[in-house]
Amino acid sequence: SAEEIYQATCSAPVNIAVIKYWGKRDTSLILPTNDSLSVTLDQDHLRSVTTARADPSFGDLSSYPDADAAAAHLTDRLWLNGEEELIKPDGRLRRCIDEMRKLRAAKESKDPSLASLSKWGLRICSENNFPTAAGLASSASGFAALIASLAALYELQPEVSSSQLSRIARQGSGSACRSLFGGYVAWQGGKEADGSDSLAVEVAPKSHWPDLHALICVVSDAKKGTPSTAGMQRTVQTSPLLQHRIKEVVPERMAKITEAIQKRDFDTFAAITMADSNNFHACCLDTSPPIFYMNDVSRSIVQLVEEINRASEAEGLGKKLAYTYDAGPNAVLYAPKENMPAILQTIRHYFPSADFDDTFNILGNGANASHR
Ligand code: PMV
Repeated sequence: SAEEIYQATCSAPVNIAVIKYWGKRDTSLILPTNDSLSVTLDQDHLRSVTTARADPSFGDLSSYPDADAAAAHLTDRLWLNGEEELIKPDGRLRRCIDEMRKLRAAKESKDPSLASLSKWGLRICSENNFPTAAGLASSASGFAALIASLAALYELQPEVSSSQLSRIARQGSGSACRSLFGGYVAWQGGKEADGSDSLAVEVAPKSHWPDLHALICVVSDAKKGTPSTAGMQRTVQTSPLLQHRIKEVVPERMAKITEAIQKRDFDTFAAITMADSNNFHACCLDTSPPIFYMNDVSRSIVQLVEEINRASEAEGLGKKLAYTYDAGPNAVLYAPKENMPAILQTIRHYFPSADFDDTFNILGNGANASHR
């Protein structure tokens, strides 16, 4: 009926890479210079929630004779954490919304009984339950939630697969494609120039290795210095070490960490995770001018983790935990669940002034499938 409301709400969690994505081979389609692999965190802790609504009162394309005139009258609008975000004509939001609208239009043309949602303007509202752009991957959960909510509003699944949706989320923010899946997720960089094979796939569901937990140490929740897009571009243009990483380092690590996940081999998983974080930050340092994401506190956490693992290995036991850092100073620590109480105690011992509710907030807890 005319009074029907077309609205959907979806949430998507943050993912934290263990093999890092850093560098684009195509900046407009967001095609990466290497494959990457991540763990999707628990929904309860770090997530974006997005509501999308379509209504003819927001603009109706069918009332305009030609497509260009119609597009000029479409009034899609979006709010992020309560503030309106401009949808720029050549921007990533525009591209993601247009791609989703195209999929809906294709569905409508196959089934004329469907409401013409693809012709109506949109109102989109998105909220994060954590600080935006603090190196906590807010763009990943944000674009994943946007794509998921539009997919639900437009009723695209199951005909359109999650991997197909991930290809669109990728064009919002590269790492977002991995948040369409829960558990252990690979972004296959792909070879095609049009990006058709650059998408996320599930390596293993959370249930395969559920006792791997993540602890997020918020060293600083200030906005990061160099945004990832600008940083990547500079690294691609100036770092010889990145070329070595792309060709020699990542392909072997992708194969080895995938196998470690399949075998639930924490020692290998931890060794590769820490090595890859360090290689990524070395590439940042190799950039001209250099980019520093880690600070003194980040580095002291590295030393503490290395020391805990050294002591454990000296007793003939394996590694207890692994660290990884994205484009910011915050540490993400991965460890088997049973190690977490001792890890927390040690961190409290060495960082006695850390305020758990503020500067050293422990937020995350588990790799989790995304529930939508
Ligand atoms: O998707 P972006 O542009 O926010 O880039 C994310 C890059 C890293 O977080 C540093 C690594 C990764 O693979 O998530």
